[in-house]
Amino acid sequence: MTDLSMRDAALAVYENAYAPYSRFKVGAAIRTEDGTVFQGCNVENVAYPEGTCAEAGAIAAMAAAGARKIVEVYVVADAPLPVPPCGGCRQKLAEFSDGDVPVTMSTLSGMEDKTTVAQLLPGAFDAGHMANT
Ligand code: THU
Repeated sequence: MTDLSMRDAALAVYENAYAPYSRFKVGAAIRTEDGTVFQGCNVENVAYPEGTCAEAGAIAAMAAAGARKIVEVYVVADAPLPVPPCGGCRQKLAEFSDGDVPVTMSTLSGMEDKTTVAQLLPGAFDAGHMANT
């Protein structure tokens, strides 16, 4: 998907979130270096730990399409304040992003906070830490 704004892409997939347990729907859009936008929503499960986050879904769609380099992230949720990615998703985003990749967190009403992947995960564990293996 290339001709869709990041916010529109995140809002569209937000509608498909499967969140019967938390009732907290999240939509995420990830843009890669060729401009393609991948979407993901949270998909919960009655076995609660098996649920997956919106960001993880978007990353899985990106990887399945063969893309590897994230250049922009947009997340939307129905919350009073913009919702930041969870710790696990921060590590997942860092796997495919440079530190300066912009991350916009937003509410349904349009309130936005902007940060970067590096700000979300300072001191990230990366492949360099396994140099001796
Ligand atoms: N969730 C996401 O999908 N992304 C986030 O950034 C924060 C949390 C989901 C996981 C779960 O389905 C619900 O929100 C409540 O934690």
